Formats: sequence, C-alpha cells, structure tokens
Amino acid sequence: MINDQIVNNSVSYEGMIFDEYISAQEIAQLVQNVAQQIARDYAGKQPVLVCVLHGAMLFLTDLMRALPIDCTVTTVRLQSYEGTNSTGRVTESVPLQADIRDKDVIVVEDIVDSGITMHYFKQNLRERQPRSLKVASLLSKPSELQFEDAKPDYVGREIPKKFVIGYGFDINEFARNLPSIYALREG
Ligand code: IMP
Ligand code: MG
Repeated sequence: MINDQIVNNSVSYEGMIFDEYISAQEIAQLVQNVAQQIARDYAGKQPVLVCVLHGAMLFLTDLMRALPIDCTVTTVRLQSYEGTNSTGRVTESVPLQADIRDKDVIVVEDIVDSGITMHYFKQNLRERQPRSLKVASLLSKPSELQFEDAKPDYVGREIPKKFVIGYGFDINEFARNLPSIYALREG
C-alpha cells in the first residue's frame, strides 16, 4: 500500500522509490503565486476554470479557494494514451458539458509534458469560440515540450524531465492523495 510506505520522505511502489521533491508547504506557495497572477489578469472578469481530470483536481480546488474573483468551474477528462501507447490524438473521455462561447476560459492542468494534450485540447476549445483561452498548469517540463502553442500561460514551477507522483499525479491511478509531490529516483 503506497500510503503505508512513506519512510524518511520517500515512498515506494512496486519496487520503485520516489523521493519527496516538492513539499506540501511549497505547493501551497506555488498555488498562491498562480492565483495572484490570475486574480490580477482577470480582475473584473468571471473566468470559467476547466479542470482536466483527474490529475488537476487538487490544484483546482486549492487554486479556486485562493482566487479572490468570481469564477465558475467545470470539468473534462482527456485521454491521449491507450494502454501504454500514445495514440497521437486526444479524446474527451468525459466531455466538457459547459457552454464556453464568449467566456474567458482558463484550463487548469496538472502538468504540461510534451504538450500534445494541451495542443489538441486548445484546438478543440477554440472551435467552441471562447472570448479568451489560457492555460494554468501547476508544473511543466520545458525540456520535453514539442508543441510551442501548448506552453502554459501560468506555471507554478518548471521541472526537469522527472516522473512525479502525489498531489493529483498518479502511478496506475494511485498516489494522487499524497499531500506532497514525489519524484522517481533514477538508477
Ligand atoms: P503531455 O500531453 O505529454 O503534455 O502530457 C500531459 C499529461 O501526461 C498530463 O496531463 C499528465 O496526466 C501526464 N503526465 C505527464 N508527466 C507526468 C508525470 O511526471 N507524472 C504523472 N503524470 C504525468
Ligand atoms: Mg493530465
């Protein structure tokens, strides 16, 4: 059980070891920073926060509580992988229900890695004619970015190429409930 395996700031899961990388306290600070930027840029507006499930759930709930402006919330579930293979396209496995026409949309994402997910999802959202469209991502891996238009407008923190779990990030759907973010120990 992954939650029984937290020892000396490390977590083990199926033979892999993950070391604490971003503490819960630092995450809270990153979220505050993003919220302040959004609050400043959207003063007097009422943005729609589109939470990309499930990874961004924790970020969304903390971010919205840190936002001192009117906003609404909706969700979408995106899938770019089938099993372990990228299909090269992104489908809405749980579609966006809200009407976003003429709305100021902020997509709330956990991490932008290659950018393929955000590249396709932004194209898809633009067809629904929002007034504006931006992306807030807790983390990004700039060294891995393959789609320039997927670069997030708001980022909590950039990280090098690492596989992370916790605070929404999963391994085989587990570990999302760990309060800190842990990175896979290499070698
Ligand atoms: P991209 O489409 O390559 O940018 O990948 C984005 C998606 O892959 C994210 O929304 C995450 O769900 C997942 N992902 C990327 N890196 C990690 C990681 O280090 N840990 C867990 N999930 C990740
Ligand atoms: Mg995701």
